[in-house]
Amino acid sequence: MTQRTLVLIKPDAVRRGLVGSVLTRFEAKGLSIVAMEQRHIDAAQADAHYAEHVERDFYPPLRDFVTSGPMVALVLEGDEAIEVVRGLNGATDGRKAAPGTIRGDLSLSNRENLVHGSDSPESAKREIALWFPNL
Ligand code: RTP
Ligand code: MG
Repeated sequence: MTQRTLVLIKPDAVRRGLVGSVLTRFEAKGLSIVAMEQRHIDAAQADAHYAEHVERDFYPPLRDFVTSGPMVALVLEGDEAIEVVRGLNGATDGRKAAPGTIRGDLSLSNRENLVHGSDSPESAKREIALWFPNL
């Protein structure tokens, strides 16, 4: 089933010059880029994106992180794109993520883990509308 998913290449990846490496993995897998834009978000956009996490202990430093510099936001499309992207991204904690995944190969952090991918069709719909309202 063809799906669309919202991906963020987070500020750590932009700072480290890993945007191209991350995009290469998604493109090599066969996913299509439907939309892509570099954005430096404010706290309100961070709160909207991470609405499910705003009350969590880990959220204040997460908000500081995702507003600390530009991110690259994109919509990817392909067969089972939501689960495929989550698989390519790897487990949340880069220290525990499997080698071969983006986080497993390139992140050593539970917060600065390079990428975001929508976690369900409902999340993808909500997040795509938030980031790319014209799609
Ligand atoms: P994402 O939403 O960014 O794709 O990551 P995820 O689904 O794998 O993880 P999630 O549970 O949704 O957490 C969102 C982001 O919050 C940061 N985080 N920090 N305990 C902590 O310090 C902690 N837990 C999560 C990470 O940046 C994670 O990607
Ligand atoms: Mg998540």
